[in-house]
Amino acid sequence: MGKGFYISKAVLLTGVVLATAAAVTIIALAVVYAQEKANNSEAQQPDRPGISTEPPAPGSPGTEPPAPGSPGTEPPAPGSPGTEPPAPGTEPWDRYRLPGDLVPDHYDVTLWPRLDEDPVKGYYFTGNSTVYFRCEQATKLILVHSHKLKVLGEPELRAVGASPHPVPTLDSWRLHSKTQFLVIVLSNPLSKGNRYSLQTQFEGALADDLSGFYRSQYVNETGHVRVIATTQMQPTDARKAFPCFDEPAMKATFNITLYHKEEHSAISNMPEYERTTIHDNGMTWIITSFEKTPKMSTYLLAFIVSDFAYDYDSTSDTEIRIWARKQAIEEDQGKYAANVTGKILKFFENYYNVSYPLPKSDQIALPDFNAGAMENWGLITYRETALLYDRNLSSIGNKERVVTVIAHELAHQWFGNLVTIKWWNDLWLNEGFASYVEYLGADEAEPEWGVKDLIVLDDIYRVFAVDALASSHPLSSEETDINTPAQINELFDAISYSKGASVLRMLSDFLTETIFVKGLNTYLRQFSYDNTIYKDLFEHLQKAVNASITLPTTVGEIMSRWTLQMGFPVITIDTTTGTVTQKHFLLDPNSTVTRPSKFNYTWIVPITWMKGGIENSTWLLDSQKTILEMKLDEKEWLVANINVTGYYRVNYDETNWKNLVNLLLTNHEDLPVINRAQIMADSFNLARAKYRETTAALDTTKYLVKELEYIPWQAALDNLAYFELMFDRTEVFGPMKKYMLQQVTPLYKHFENLTKNWTQPDSHMDQYNQINAVRVACGYGLKDCEVMAQTFYWKWMANPNDNPIPVNLKTSIYCSAIASGDEAEWNFAWKMFQNAKIATEADKLRSAMACTRHTWLLNRYLHYTLDSTKIRKQDATSTITSIASNVIGQSLAWNFIRANWKFIFEQYGGGSFSFSSLIKGVTQRFSTEFELSQLEQFKTENEDVGFGSGTRALEQALESTKANIRWVNENKEAVQHWFLNAVNSTNPALNSLW
Ligand code: BES
Ligand code: ZN
Repeated sequence: MGKGFYISKAVLLTGVVLATAAAVTIIALAVVYAQEKANNSEAQQPDRPGISTEPPAPGSPGTEPPAPGSPGTEPPAPGSPGTEPPAPGTEPWDRYRLPGDLVPDHYDVTLWPRLDEDPVKGYYFTGNSTVYFRCEQATKLILVHSHKLKVLGEPELRAVGASPHPVPTLDSWRLHSKTQFLVIVLSNPLSKGNRYSLQTQFEGALADDLSGFYRSQYVNETGHVRVIATTQMQPTDARKAFPCFDEPAMKATFNITLYHKEEHSAISNMPEYERTTIHDNGMTWIITSFEKTPKMSTYLLAFIVSDFAYDYDSTSDTEIRIWARKQAIEEDQGKYAANVTGKILKFFENYYNVSYPLPKSDQIALPDFNAGAMENWGLITYRETALLYDRNLSSIGNKERVVTVIAHELAHQWFGNLVTIKWWNDLWLNEGFASYVEYLGADEAEPEWGVKDLIVLDDIYRVFAVDALASSHPLSSEETDINTPAQINELFDAISYSKGASVLRMLSDFLTETIFVKGLNTYLRQFSYDNTIYKDLFEHLQKAVNASITLPTTVGEIMSRWTLQMGFPVITIDTTTGTVTQKHFLLDPNSTVTRPSKFNYTWIVPITWMKGGIENSTWLLDSQKTILEMKLDEKEWLVANINVTGYYRVNYDETNWKNLVNLLLTNHEDLPVINRAQIMADSFNLARAKYRETTAALDTTKYLVKELEYIPWQAALDNLAYFELMFDRTEVFGPMKKYMLQQVTPLYKHFENLTKNWTQPDSHMDQYNQINAVRVACGYGLKDCEVMAQTFYWKWMANPNDNPIPVNLKTSIYCSAIASGDEAEWNFAWKMFQNAKIATEADKLRSAMACTRHTWLLNRYLHYTLDSTKIRKQDATSTITSIASNVIGQSLAWNFIRANWKFIFEQYGGGSFSFSSLIKGVTQRFSTEFELSQLEQFKTENEDVGFGSGTRALEQALESTKANIRWVNENKEAVQHWFLNAVNSTNPALNSLW
């Protein structure tokens, strides 16, 4: 027997048998067990009684019913609990990965969530699961993942298959909490080639922790609290719902069965198979079973019991349902999702050239949900804001969010679900791919919008900011480097999503879409219901290439430069000679790269450029190359990286820069819209990295007085936001404010005149730029704008049932009115927040309440984030981040985080992206030695608590703070001067601004 093993002293007390007409049997067992309610301790100490059930064998096809009989009483373990802990790292159960000698084929899982609070146990669920598995390698050890579950009674091992084979008895079993395993030691080995089943009964807390099988709740229209049981398995929490081989390569089929009340409905990955009824103690329970799933990974399972209603799309071949709270469905908030889903499904069926793999597609909006959405196969879960849309209440941004998130999750139904990565180290391929093609899917549903262009701002420029740091990391990780749940969670970052999307877009572009989808199609077909590593995709793309085009080298060779080394190059084009060079682009020129690269930080770069209105392309294979077509006369100009399809920045000689800036000032429309954005974005970043003067970058923004397009404006604002963060507590801010107002006023006037009383402009991008105009004008204190905002807001306060504010402008107007207002404005927002009929509205108010300039209101609001009855857990970190983005809230939020780190970490630290954005959010203004020392102190003081999925964000914050300190020292004076000079003080329009 292994060291430290013991056998639980679990005792079974009584059994009650109830029969249904269909001879369905329930055995209710009263069990004596340890109970640690919220965190459900895994040590099995006898404590107090509770009820557990052994549900009937599911009646759906393809399952082998469990053998009759229930677990017997266990004798006390020979070695009592806790004797001699095993030496760390030596035994199989100390490693996080499954050994692989046992491979699951099928599971029968029955779960019974209790949605009424038990006076003793609180909210909990019981379950019964049988896993059928093959033995690939003889072993005496069974390791199955199980986390925060109490296993009731002894697991039962049986032989499976036609020819009978011996079944070893259990020597011992226990839960090993560190690696989250149920560890079973057998008397004799299981033999290779044989099949077995393992049945367990268990109980778990139905906690509000947003992971595994968890509880969400809301107050319905009659004021009653309603409880939902739902799931979030990815990446490693299926093991919180039932014991399982919880790794993505351990694909199996599943028969899911749920117990629930008549007033509830139960849904899962597959369509309902059958429903039976039982009566127990005067209560009626429905047992809903579902059809057997195809072979799939555990992290894609989902099962939900709720009182929700659904809307549906009757025009699609696949059954499409959109589930949400009844009231939301009655108000048609699911209609938009129902309308676009069919179109997007059809688009992906064409794009992948593979039919949708399942018989139905359910999507559900949950009141409590940690991420934005989750691609569970056939049952996609969403935050309410990512699925529900109301034409009268939601903004254009909300609408775009819904259609892109749907497209993203539907894209995963093939790429990710049908074909799955072998291990989490390749997560970037899964998330990067979906993050790229979500734009294609959304474009299909809303072809007028031009959403595909937005990848430049929302992914490429977003991730450039972190990938240009010395602390960045490569897209691809080694399988052996990713083991613990925390390491896996940390992979859900901007690199995996946005860099992944960016380099795949670049790949699709240089291969051409036709070849890209051809390779993609054979890849999907070959690996359906199976697992892959990222190289498998590149091999299939290579095959498609071989048949038709020539590349300088293989797809794998080209792509390895972008996936195996961090960062990206800056391509410098000297148009006086035609010389093109590349260099690793580091935002902070003083930082040192300690991470080695076998490619020495050189890339194989697809170069595109435009000269004299004609586009051209070539490859840069080494660090330098002369391209004669790039040699220019004094007056000629060229722009490279057309539409920023390449994942790199571009620098030029000063003459070409001068010509480009002149062109912006005289004929900006001669340049593609995205390249106008690029000229500013690259200039600012080249200046940060000291390739150019900061003032030269600022010069590129002068032409904005004539610019009406959204993408260039947004790129400029994103970059100027850095100046605001660095200077909004300094004397530079006065002149900066004047400059910003000077530049934005024409845009503000344009939209004021374009529409009547701030109604919506027609085009998608114009709607966004109208929002920008109001946000910036009000944000920098344009009097006209502030008065407009106040007038609208007060009108609403006077008549709360009739909000007169244009939906797209709500966020900016609420923020401005609350910023210039007092307690009354804030409290009104709070009341409206609590009564909001749609989550998008609540979110707008939630971010606007962070705009107040009253310290006490901000502090009170910060404390609300610790109380989940006021601010939902899913929203806590983003609320703190909003408060920190307010110049007055910044230090309050930082102090708050420091004071409450342990609690915040324990509550929210397990999750993924939101936690790193919290750290980034509260530190983004840091630019003094004092702030740096505070940050360092914070790091040392909390080393024992840890930073979880925010560990990397903390390192990035330290690096950014150091860079900020240097940048402010070096640039403050020049920038102040530049702003002062750039403001035309004789401009009469400007004098009347404030
Ligand atoms: N698979 C993720 C959801 C997820 C994220 C699960 C982190 C576990 C940890 C899903 O496909 C996703 O990427 N969702 C995004 C939305 C998407 C449009 C980028 C999200 O949740 O924000
Ligand atoms: Zn995703």
